Amino acid sequence: MTAPAHDVVDLIRTKRDGGTLAPDQISWLIGAYTDGTVADEQMSAMAMAILLRGMDRAEIAQWTQAMISSGERMDFSSLTRADGTRRRTSDKHSTGGVGDKITLPLAPLVASFGVPVPQLSGRGLGHTGGTLDKLESIPGWQAHLSNEQMLDQLDRIGAVICAAGSGLAPADRKLYALRDVTGTVEAIPLIASSIMSKKIAEGTDALVLDVKAGAGAFMKTRADAEELARTMVALGTDAGVSTTALITGMDAPLGLTAGNAVEVEESLEVLAGGGPADVVELTLALAEEMLAGAGVEADPAEHLANGKAMDCWRQMIRAQGGDPEAPLPEPKHTHTITAPASGTLSRLDAYAVGVAAWRLGAGRARKEDPVQAAAGVRMHAKPGERVTAGQPLLTLTTDEESRVPRAEEALAGAAEIADSAWQPKPLVSARVSAEDL
Ligand code: URA
Repeated sequence: MTAPAHDVVDLIRTKRDGGTLAPDQISWLIGAYTDGTVADEQMSAMAMAILLRGMDRAEIAQWTQAMISSGERMDFSSLTRADGTRRRTSDKHSTGGVGDKITLPLAPLVASFGVPVPQLSGRGLGHTGGTLDKLESIPGWQAHLSNEQMLDQLDRIGAVICAAGSGLAPADRKLYALRDVTGTVEAIPLIASSIMSKKIAEGTDALVLDVKAGAGAFMKTRADAEELARTMVALGTDAGVSTTALITGMDAPLGLTAGNAVEVEESLEVLAGGGPADVVELTLALAEEMLAGAGVEADPAEHLANGKAMDCWRQMIRAQGGDPEAPLPEPKHTHTITAPASGTLSRLDAYAVGVAAWRLGAGRARKEDPVQAAAGVRMHAKPGERVTAGQPLLTLTTDEESRVPRAEEALAGAAEIADSAWQPKPLVSARVSAEDL
């Protein structure tokens, strides 16, 4: 047996003491962790050293590259027009928030302009919901597609939202599970490399990042969100992916729903030309970026108004076995929380609403847990709106009534009603592109 090329304890000490890891050390470390030569406890120590000491741009790029190399790369270059020219694909990634259903209307909206959208999505873990869990509330809909099925659907319909195969960045899969249980998820270099390794391996031509900042997001401050956005835009740009990022607010939930079926229902309102103003605004802002990244100049609002985005949604759902006309599951129990006073709703804490939806059964504590399609929270007012004492403020829905008290506990103090004037904050606060690096 040959001796390992590096001593993992030396590498941990280097990072612990604020040093820089060399490219060959990083490649070796990721490979050795993926094949089990480096143990979980050693990688945990390294992840904590990275969280505390950070990494420079070259280290993050090498770390990302090593995670990409741990698995397969997808190839969409066979997607062509009738004249033989290549169709540029465009994708979006959100760093995760409460009520963030934007992928659902966004993918068919962008695809309705002829731009293929290969959206590999995940399931919810903790207080943020998962796109696949939401779509699985549609009767018959299947999350798993082979690479061939995905390519065929991209070619015929343009929009695909499906589960990422296990072959894509397996090093990230293992490392993310480890970070989740060692308090190291929040390290900006590790979040950036985790997200971008999957997006670069997926092989999209253009990518728009929705980097959330606020109470319900990973990044609590705008400064941290901007640092994460710049790091990811740099990684994408260096890998030849046309990448931009929008910094968007996540102090309050997006829209008026958080959960599974309730978020599908709200997405359908947006696709039908209605829906809450913030969900529409963000869908259009991200669609503009995605279309521009694919080289298409168009006003995305037109296809919400004329039904073309809805037509594409129906085709996308049918192609994956779902019935877009079937009624969505109804909850067995509902519980209403009323406004304790009259005034302006000045705060509705996104994190608290996310935890409540999760405790009602919309999310899972462990990745093998089932979720309830009909569980969630409906909000009857948005921050800035007037409410009257005794009117419904939140409706909690679940199939298990015993879950309600813990959800109510999460919501204690989550809503504030004030007499004072309310200052709106912009939903999209900044844009980061390669020119800003
Ligand atoms: N999403 C990811 O895919 N990875 C992270 O590290 C955080 C969010």
